[in-house]
This record gives sequence, structure tokens and C-alpha cells, in this order.
Amino acid sequence: MIICRTQSEWKKEQQVLQDQPGTFALVPTMGALHEGHLTLIREAKQHHARVVVTIFINPLQFGANEDFDSYPRTEDQDLKLLQREGADVVWLPGVQDLYKEKQMITMNTSPLGDQLCGSKRVGHFDGMATVVMKFLQLVAPDAAYFGKKDAQQLAIIKKMVQDFHIQTTIVGVNTVRDDDGLALSSRNVHLNERERIDAPILYKALTSGVNETAHTSNAQLITKKAIDQLEDSLASIEYVELVTFPNLETVHSLEEGNRYLLAAAVQYERARLIDNIIFTMS
Ligand code: PAJ
Repeated sequence: MIICRTQSEWKKEQQVLQDQPGTFALVPTMGALHEGHLTLIREAKQHHARVVVTIFINPLQFGANEDFDSYPRTEDQDLKLLQREGADVVWLPGVQDLYKEKQMITMNTSPLGDQLCGSKRVGHFDGMATVVMKFLQLVAPDAAYFGKKDAQQLAIIKKMVQDFHIQTTIVGVNTVRDDDGLALSSRNVHLNERERIDAPILYKALTSGVNETAHTSNAQLITKKAIDQLEDSLASIEYVELVTFPNLETVHSLEEGNRYLLAAAVQYERARLIDNIIFTMS
């Protein structure tokens, strides 16, 4: 496994990759790797000759009061896991490599980035899309793999690639969960013991909401079902929303055959958790 740190080290490796036969895929991450990330890498390896993983905690996508400083950093462990998974190249750029000078031009993800998580995390999706755009330009992979766990992020990246005619195929991978249903997340380490026991309620509530579609097509009743369950949680509810997928438009009455996203964010003492279910109305 080749480890690159600087942009110039990466550029040399990119040349090597491009000279070899077969396609290569990119898996962008912020590190603190878990089975969710590793599943993206396994999926990518199944379809491509080589896989490049980036680890970069992107300051541009964290708000002033968010967890940039406390975001878990586990580089040694990450590199061991990546070696074991058979990643071909890992690039860990420094902030200076990607933001040498002040970033004056950024992606504008409005309106997709304004709602759901974006209404609380103002500017988050613009910062996320800006760094993903940089990686797509600098790595120029045949495909890039992202988790459906971050469904809004995935929808925005797919639209950005389409709108900017980028030649990379964006692949969405199903959410990996613990046995009790909690979606794996680097931020789960910030849950205390009681919160960790409580946290599966998030996915349970979303599942109840989606199951409610057997009885009603009324979006408000479906979200209410999920909210009612979440009221029993130790966490405070930030939002529970039902929108169309992938356009993230408000919906009042669900129509058979259309795709929807039921998404939620909750706040525990030190961890903000998100989860969602993407489903087709039957
Ligand atoms: P990060 O949170 O490290 O996640 C990296 C990738 O792993 C994302 O595509 C995310 O959706 C996926 N992922 C995380 N948990 C998952 C799970 N339980 N199951 C499946 N996939 C999961 O998302 C980011 O980093 C950043 O915003 C990034 C795209 C790297 C840009 O900075």
C-alpha cells in the first residue's frame, strides 16, 4: 500500500495509476474508519482494478461551533485497516495541500444543501461539495464511492457531478449498521454508555415511519409516527423529515412508485447522529 502525504507525492502516484491497465476508484473519508468505510472500499475493489482512499478532515465543512477539534483522529489504526483491506493508495493531504491560499470560490449547493441537515449546519454542504470537487479534480477516478448513510451528501454529489459534467461515476452504498440497528459512524465514540443503549431508537423510529406507509400516504402522519417514538429517546430531536429522493423536495402525499427519503438528526450530549431510510412507495 502506497501512502502519500503531499499533493506532489499524490500526483506521482496518479501518473502510475493512470499508466496501468484497468479502472480505479476513489473512496473519500475523514478517517476514524469503521466497517461502513471498509464496506465502501470492498465494494469499490469488486468493480475496479485499484482503489485510492483519501483521509482528510475538511475544515471547510465544519461550522464555528461544530466538532472539528474533537473529531476522532486515529491515523495509525486507519492505515492498518486500509492495509488489511488491500487499499492500493492512501492519500492524507495536509490542509495546506488543498487550501494553499484562502478558498475564494466555493460550491453553492443551494437549494439541495439548505434543508434537512443544511438548515442547522449552515455552509456545511458547500464546504463538503468544495472538497469533494477538489478530490474529483485531483484524483480523476473512474468511480467514487459514498455511503447512503449520508443521503443528502450523496444526492448533492450526484447532482454536482451531473451539473459540472464530471466524468466520474458516483456509486451509493447501503448503510452498514451494528446488530442493534445503530448506523455506524465515527461520531458514535462520543456516545456515553446510556446513550449508546438508547441510540438504536433512531433507526427503529425511522423504520416505524416507513412501515406506516402501509396504512397512509400522508407525509405528516408518517413523520409523526417516527417523531412519537423519538420523543422517548434521551436525545433531542433536531428534525424528522420526509422528502422526495434524490431531489429532496417537500412532499405532502406520497405516490406509488416514487422514491422518498425519511431522514432524521438527533442530538445527544456530545454526539449529533443522523440516519435515514430511502424507500419506494408501494
Ligand atoms: P466520513 O464521515 O468519513 O464518511 C466517508 C464515507 O463513508 C461517506 O461516503 C459516508 O457516507 C460513508 N459512511 C459513513 N458511515 C457509513 C455507514 N455506516 N455505512 C455506509 N457508509 C458509511 O462523509 C464524509 O466523511 C465527508 O463528508 C467526505 C465525503 C469525505 C468529504 O469531506
